[in-house]
Amino acid sequence: MNEISLSKKQVKPVIDLLNDYLANYHIHYQKLRGMHWNIKGENFFTLHLKFEELYTNAQTTIDAIAERILTLGKSPFSTYAEYIKVSRIHEVDTVEMADSKMVKEIIGDMAVLIEMEREIMDAASKAGDEGTNDMVNAFMQFKEKTSWMLRAFIGKAK
Ligand SMILES: [Fe+2]
Repeated sequence: MNEISLSKKQVKPVIDLLNDYLANYHIHYQKLRGMHWNIKGENFFTLHLKFEELYTNAQTTIDAIAERILTLGKSPFSTYAEYIKVSRIHEVDTVEMADSKMVKEIIGDMAVLIEMEREIMDAASKAGDEGTNDMVNAFMQFKEKTSWMLRAFIGKAK
């Protein structure tokens, strides 16, 4: 058992998955910043603000994930070299990217993150780690709802 009464063996996969998740979130975060800066056209005022709202949320989420890893007894990945190596979400060039393509990119990133969150919650349940479960569940619900709103924005919500 570790200091917060979780089995070290059972919590190890949770920590590893959280570190992968952290890496993916960082790449997603930086993509949102690029979109905030490079958005052009008739939706500028709407999306410039929306992207800022989303990257601000991602920043808070990233800090909570990293500090959960520390709470569970390991160090979080903290370099972009590690993030790029591990991340399933890839960087994109947002200069001259169409606004609808930006929104589709975010919907795609969120689908990856949501899939990872389900994997983490599965491992956390097996480890009896309800603290991680509760935290990740809230992050997932935010993106589930945001994904619907972004799909509605580009006229594809069903
Ligand atoms: Fe700004």
